[in-house]
Amino acid sequence: MEFERAASVHPAPMVDPFGRAISYLRVSVTDRCDFRCVYCMAENMSFLPKADLLTLEELDRLCSAFIVKGVRKLRLTGGEPLVRRGIMTLFRSLSRHLADGALDELTLTTNGSQLPKYAAELADCGIKRINVSLDTLDADKFRAITRWGELDKVLAGIDAAQAAGLRVKINAVALKGVNEDEIPDLIAWAHGRGMDLTVIEVMPLGDVGEQRLDQYLPLSMVRARLAERFTLEDIDHRTGGPARYVRVQETGGRLGFITPLTHNFCESCNRVRLTCTGTLYMCLGQEDAADLRAPLRASEGNDLVYAAIDDAIARKPKGHDFIIDRRHKRPALARHMSVTGG
Ligand SMILES: C[S@@+](CC[C@H](N)C(=O)[O-])C[C@H]1O[C@@H](n2cnc3c(N)ncnc32)[C@H](O)[C@@H]1O
Ligand code: SF4
Repeated sequence: MEFERAASVHPAPMVDPFGRAISYLRVSVTDRCDFRCVYCMAENMSFLPKADLLTLEELDRLCSAFIVKGVRKLRLTGGEPLVRRGIMTLFRSLSRHLADGALDELTLTTNGSQLPKYAAELADCGIKRINVSLDTLDADKFRAITRWGELDKVLAGIDAAQAAGLRVKINAVALKGVNEDEIPDLIAWAHGRGMDLTVIEVMPLGDVGEQRLDQYLPLSMVRARLAERFTLEDIDHRTGGPARYVRVQETGGRLGFITPLTHNFCESCNRVRLTCTGTLYMCLGQEDAADLRAPLRASEGNDLVYAAIDDAIARKPKGHDFIIDRRHKRPALARHMSVTGG
């Protein structure tokens, strides 16, 4: 049929039932990691069987299908994206979409441990800015939070990234009684090196063997305390993400707050998340998901994939509803952040 052929050449862009256009895809390329951060993973995690994973070629094909459907920004995450074997092949192949203008940005979120090895190659693939997660500058605390990580390696990774010309944004999870007093030092350090800093509220994802209530620190409190010491000026800066930014007048740098629990940012959500097994989550905070692996493997063309994506986007929920309080001690969602991709 004439119409069908036209539709398969130019698949429709993705617009959800609430009129939000989907232009941002985050892909968890592995659920594995060389760290075991206390808020993200239990110490003894069981990971997905390797046989369930999409190959790098399949990940490329799915990402490219999303780009045809209107995705302009692509972030690889995990788990730790840079521990997936052969990951630079995927960055390299996806960079063709930057070169031909189909994609505005290719980026990643990383714990930084592998950046000494890969920073230069990432820059060479057209990556301009990256997010590095770092919650403390104290080596002992760093070890306690990440269980397996070494602060020196991450700092060397950040050095390597900056030396390669990558812009670095630091993400820090605010943890009650752990790094709450250190946030001013993190601000001074990050801004002193020309890096934005974003603080994130702990989200109740996955059983990590610790009580969330013990970890949870509302950012409204963090902000109020910072305001006693710094002049925080609200600014309009948006990165297409959920962070709200202020300028810290004393340092001149930008500070972002991501507050999934105390503030809802779903109205402007433009993103969906793909796991390394080809499961598409339309919302980080909801269970509903769509399998894209079966349609991907069912034929060589992408029409089945486009149709499955359209079905999924039509079910994108209006928002999420995380709660941490004394009556809700179990995780709001059973899956860990490392599965969906943070
Ligand atoms: C899941 S990690 C994946 C990428 C990479 N391994 C890293 O740490 O940057 C992405 C981000 O999610 C954050 N994160 C993990 N679990 C979280 C939770 N329960 N609540 C809030 N943020 C979380 C991490 O701090 C990190 O900044
Ligand atoms: S937050 Fe990132 S580095 Fe830490 S355990 Fe999770 S995936 Fe690994």
